[in-house]
Amino acid sequence: MKTINLGHSGLQASAVALGIMRMDALNVDQATKVIETAVNLGINYVDSADIYGGGKSSEIFGAALKQSSVSRDQLYIQSKGGIVPGKRYDFSKQHILDAVDGELKRLGVDYLDSFLLHRPDALMEPEDVAAAFDKLQASGKVRHFGVSNFNPGQVDLLQAALNQRLMINQLQFGIMHTNAIDFGLHTNMQDDRSIDHDGGVIEYARLHKMTIQAWSPYQYGNFAGIFLDNPKFPKLNAAMQDLADEKHTSKSAIATAWILRHPAKFQVILGTMNPTHLAENAAGADINLTRQEWYDIYFAAGNDLP
Ligand SMILES: NC(=O)c1ccc[n+]([C@@H]2O[C@H](COP(=O)([O-])OP(=O)(O)OC[C@H]3O[C@@H](n4cnc5c(N)ncnc54)[C@H](OP(=O)(O)O)[C@@H]3O)[C@@H](O)[C@H]2O)c1
Repeated sequence: MKTINLGHSGLQASAVALGIMRMDALNVDQATKVIETAVNLGINYVDSADIYGGGKSSEIFGAALKQSSVSRDQLYIQSKGGIVPGKRYDFSKQHILDAVDGELKRLGVDYLDSFLLHRPDALMEPEDVAAAFDKLQASGKVRHFGVSNFNPGQVDLLQAALNQRLMINQLQFGIMHTNAIDFGLHTNMQDDRSIDHDGGVIEYARLHKMTIQAWSPYQYGNFAGIFLDNPKFPKLNAAMQDLADEKHTSKSAIATAWILRHPAKFQVILGTMNPTHLAENAAGADINLTRQEWYDIYFAAGNDLP
């Protein structure tokens, strides 16, 4: 399994991680199999959030980790907080502290390797967040911090108040979700693709040595479904199949490899809860695409160049 550096930290993590958003649909035995499969594949990073399955995903993970052959220290365990579903985003100090305590309990661990703020809160007071992060770090409950779905201005605003350097920004990114690179390719043009939705977040992350974690790597739209084997995307599936045949691998491995080919050195958060799919998808970490192969897939997804 290929590894990546986590931000500026010097820590090494697997280039693909296991996201457990969908683990609430499994029983503990099934979840145990997923965790053991992941570790056997060389995956050492797990991503959760307090809201996944209303907390049940983390609970199932915690119970499964205990009964599995995997020990706590074989994994980086990450969670996220700051969303009160259906009500508000909440970066108040107390909410952040409670979110971490809740996750430690559900996951059955006494520290998180990293904690991310899930989505930017318009009412964010950076000093409140700083006070929460200091307390969490001093108590040993959280080792590293990051954000998710933040643009560079939001990162700068928060970072200026923090004593810890933000290590991660988790963003939706994949073959069918490329707005963060489209605008760069269309710079100085007047078409819609030249619109910068995210403030140059990839360039920012590279300059500031933040790891970008690509969430929902196989989805198109906002949870509209996956593009793999989807008849809505015949050209893309045909191009991925051709490349997969050439490289004796699967289409999903090509989709993973496509993200990892980017020099920003993303970490891909895989969401499958099927051990066979997990092995297929993770295999992409060890497949190298040429520059032309990368562009050919980009074109097959419906993109162009000026
Ligand atoms: N920060 C954020 O705002 C945010 C938002 C959403 C998600 N996330 C993180 O990202 C992780 C991944 O998200 P996701 O689950 O949407 O990602 P995903 O891996 O793109 O999609 C998972 C879905 O694709 C299916 N799938 C995956 N591989 C397949 C294959 N080889 N063949 C057929 N079907 C396949 C899965 O079904 P099977 O289980 O049947 O394989 C599942 O329904 C989450 O667990 C979470 O940790 C973060």
